[in-house]
Amino acid sequence: MPGPLRITPEMAEFHAQVSADFLEPLWLAAPEVMLREPKSRPIPYLWPRTLIEKHLQRAGEIIHFHNGGDRRVLMLINPGMRDLQPYGWGATTQTLSVCVQLLLPGEEAPPHRHTQTAIRYIIRGRGAYSAVEGERVYMAEGDYVITPRGLWHEHAHEGSEPMMWMDCLDTPLIFYLHATFFEPSPTPKQPITRPPSVNKYLGGMVRPLSDHTPSLAPLPVYPFAGVEAALRGLSEHYPPDPVEGYVVEYINPSNGQSANEKIGAWMQKLPPGFHGQAHRHVNSAVYQIKSGQGYTVIDGVRFDWQKGDFLVVPSWTYHEHVNTSTTEDAYLFSTNDIPIYEKLELQREERWTENGGRQTVTGVWTPAGVQPVQTVGHS
Ligand SMILES: [Fe+2]
Ligand SMILES: [Fe+2]
Repeated sequence: MPGPLRITPEMAEFHAQVSADFLEPLWLAAPEVMLREPKSRPIPYLWPRTLIEKHLQRAGEIIHFHNGGDRRVLMLINPGMRDLQPYGWGATTQTLSVCVQLLLPGEEAPPHRHTQTAIRYIIRGRGAYSAVEGERVYMAEGDYVITPRGLWHEHAHEGSEPMMWMDCLDTPLIFYLHATFFEPSPTPKQPITRPPSVNKYLGGMVRPLSDHTPSLAPLPVYPFAGVEAALRGLSEHYPPDPVEGYVVEYINPSNGQSANEKIGAWMQKLPPGFHGQAHRHVNSAVYQIKSGQGYTVIDGVRFDWQKGDFLVVPSWTYHEHVNTSTTEDAYLFSTNDIPIYEKLELQREERWTENGGRQTVTGVWTPAGVQPVQTVGHS
């Protein structure tokens, strides 16, 4: 086994010479490039609901579609990705771009299509629809919606209250892969040519014969009522998973795989007082707190959350979820890049086994920075 590298004066001179010619010695670079384990560039971070709503409301007052833009969207840029140009590549994690969008009553966001795939999770309101490749998909609070890559889509709002939703796209991944294509529509509105696909899936665990050959996202919208019933069935009759509580994944009814082939989505229910065991995995995830209050400990730092907050869990960071209420469930919607890591056969998970699966809390996150915890204790 080789010992520590000792750099002689002639080696140092050589290193400088090759570097000037855009050559780098692997014997120097290996420890930093060929890491022993992943080191996430995105950091754990939380955007409070109040902050998001304040800025989105102001955007509603001053940003209008007739003024050039085609979506009123704010991207949640991870501080660890901010120095990437342009615009931190829109990265909330290394693969996922999580955004918040506001559509006001009567507004129409014009059609476009792109190579990024998209999912939406409706935070507030009802009455807006996305027209996707000739089909109108109506959206309401709690719904999960898919707009697959490459399809024309536009949004319009027929309701009476502002609508707000979370978008999640694979923008940073597609940008890094140099595979970004974006196309505005030559026409201001698509003709509606297809009936609602949701009518093909009214029977629950049966599928139309036409789905025997799987297709990309055949079901565009997943209402919350069905998801809530699924979680109720689990929680009333089964013990919680020690790490996750109760979780359902949104799946493609034609093949049982992730509903969106690149972006995973979960709805998670933490029963009152639930304290999950910590684990870490190669994939990243972004949580939107649907309801409840609690905290997540990420690598020893406690992130307190409540309804409407957004939380990033980066790759290979230990994390555990806690519901601090003794009476109310907490519901967490989350998106992840598990489908990508599984396709690349890179997914890996490890459990924290010390102290019954609970990390030692060393700090509490605040927007101004992490405040150290004075007394040594356990979360
Ligand atoms: Fe889009
Ligand atoms: Fe996790």
